[in-house]
Amino acid sequence: MAATIDFDTTSLATASWEAIRDLFALDPTTTHLNTGTIGAMPHDVVETYVRVTREWAGSLANIYPPSLYPEYRAQIARDFGVDQDELVICHNATEGISRIIAGLDLGPDDAVLTTSHECFSVLSNFNLAHNRFGVRVDLVTLPSGPNVTTEEIVAAFEAALTPRTKVMAFAATTLYTGTRMPIRALCDLAQRHGVITIADAALLPGMAEVNLRELGLDFLAGSGSKFQCGPLGTGLLYVRNKVFPEHNPLPLPRFWPVISTWYPLVGDMPKRTTTSVETCNMGDYLQSAGSASIGRAAALAKACELWNRIGRRRIEERALELGWHAKRRVVELFGESALYSPLHDTRLHSPVVAFKPFRAPEDAWNINKVMAFVDRLEAEHRIWIRWVEFEVPGSPHMHYAARVCTHLFNEHDEIDRALKVMARLADEMS
Ligand SMILES: Cc1ncc(COP(=O)(O)O)c(C=O)c1O
Repeated sequence: MAATIDFDTTSLATASWEAIRDLFALDPTTTHLNTGTIGAMPHDVVETYVRVTREWAGSLANIYPPSLYPEYRAQIARDFGVDQDELVICHNATEGISRIIAGLDLGPDDAVLTTSHECFSVLSNFNLAHNRFGVRVDLVTLPSGPNVTTEEIVAAFEAALTPRTKVMAFAATTLYTGTRMPIRALCDLAQRHGVITIADAALLPGMAEVNLRELGLDFLAGSGSKFQCGPLGTGLLYVRNKVFPEHNPLPLPRFWPVISTWYPLVGDMPKRTTTSVETCNMGDYLQSAGSASIGRAAALAKACELWNRIGRRRIEERALELGWHAKRRVVELFGESALYSPLHDTRLHSPVVAFKPFRAPEDAWNINKVMAFVDRLEAEHRIWIRWVEFEVPGSPHMHYAARVCTHLFNEHDEIDRALKVMARLADEMS
C-alpha cells in the first residue's frame, strides 16, 4: 500500500498517527503486536534499501571506504547523543553483544553479574566466556508482576555484587516481562564499585529518545530492525570511547576490537584517552571488518531520519501510551494478577506487556497451551504476538506468558479488538 500523504510537503512532526501509519509497509489483514521481534519497515526505508543496493550492483567502485559508513554513523550517532568514534553499525543486537563480551579482558578471577531474564544473546555468550576463560557468571532472577519497583531491582543487583564482579550486564527493556530497566541507577551502582556496564538494548533504539552518554554505560548493543524499524540485519553498537566524568568517571576498560581489518598487523592500537578528547577511533576499528552492505546501512539511516522528522520524544510517548493502554485492557479483561509486567511503578513501563492468558494457575507453566494460544491467534485471527518463557523468583517452574508489544503505528482500536479476541480465545481454551 502506498503512502496516501505527500510527506515531502507535510511536516511529519505534526502529522496525525493515522497518517503516519500509512508510512509503514504493514499488511492490512494482520494486527502487528510484535515489534519486539521485528518492527514494520516504512516504505521509504524499503525503497532506500533497494535503490542503494541497485546503485552498487555490478559497479566497479571501491566498496571498502563506504563500508565504514562514516556519514551514516555520524548521522545516527548524533541521534543518540554520541560521536562517530563511539558508534558502529553492526548486524543485530546479538552480534553487538558477542563482540562486547569477546572484546573484554575476562579471566578465571572475574565474575559477571547479570539476570536470568536476559536474552540468549547475552547468556550464551557469557557461558561461552565461562567455558573458555573460567569467568564466573552470577545470575539474579528479576522480580516481576504489577508491584515490582525500581528500588527492588537495584537492590537485587546490589545484593549480588561481590569483590570479584567485573561486569554488570542487563537489558534496557527485558524481552520477557517488558521491564524498562533503571539504567542510570544501575550504572551509578556499578560505577561506585568500579564495575563495567553492558546494556542489551535490543528494544531501545527507536522506542526511546536517549542520550547514550548520559546513561553512563560502557557498552550498549541495540537492534536496528525492531523499534527502529530499519531493515533486518542491522544493529547499533555503542562503545564508550571518551571519559566524561559527569556521566562515567571510570577509566575506559581494556577492550579488544574483535572482527577487525583495521587492528594493526604489527604492534598495538593507539592508547585510549583518559579525557573527553578521543585518541583512538574505536568505532573505526570495529566498523572496519571487510565488505559490508551499503544498502542496509543506508536504509537504517533513512529510518533514523524519519524518526527525527516525526520526533523521537513524540514516538516514545506514543509507544508508551499505547503500551499503557494495552496494560489497562489486560487488567480489565484478565485481572491485575495476570500481569507479569510492571504496573504501579511507571518508571518501569515499556510498550512490552506480558500476561497469563489462562485462569488456572498451573497453565502459567504449560508451554504447549500458550504456544497453541499464540498459534491460533495468528492462524484464526491474523493477530501476531509471541509467547515468552522466564523464571519467577520462588517458583520451581519456568513461566510461559503471552507478550503484546505496541509501537507508533498501532491504534487504540486494534489493540482493544485484539485483546478482546485474546480474552475470548483464552476463555474457550481454559
Ligand atoms: C532483549 C533482547 N535482546 C536481544 C535480542 C536479539 O536481538 P537481535 O535479533 O537484534 O540480535 C532480542 C530479540 O528479540 C531481545 O528482545
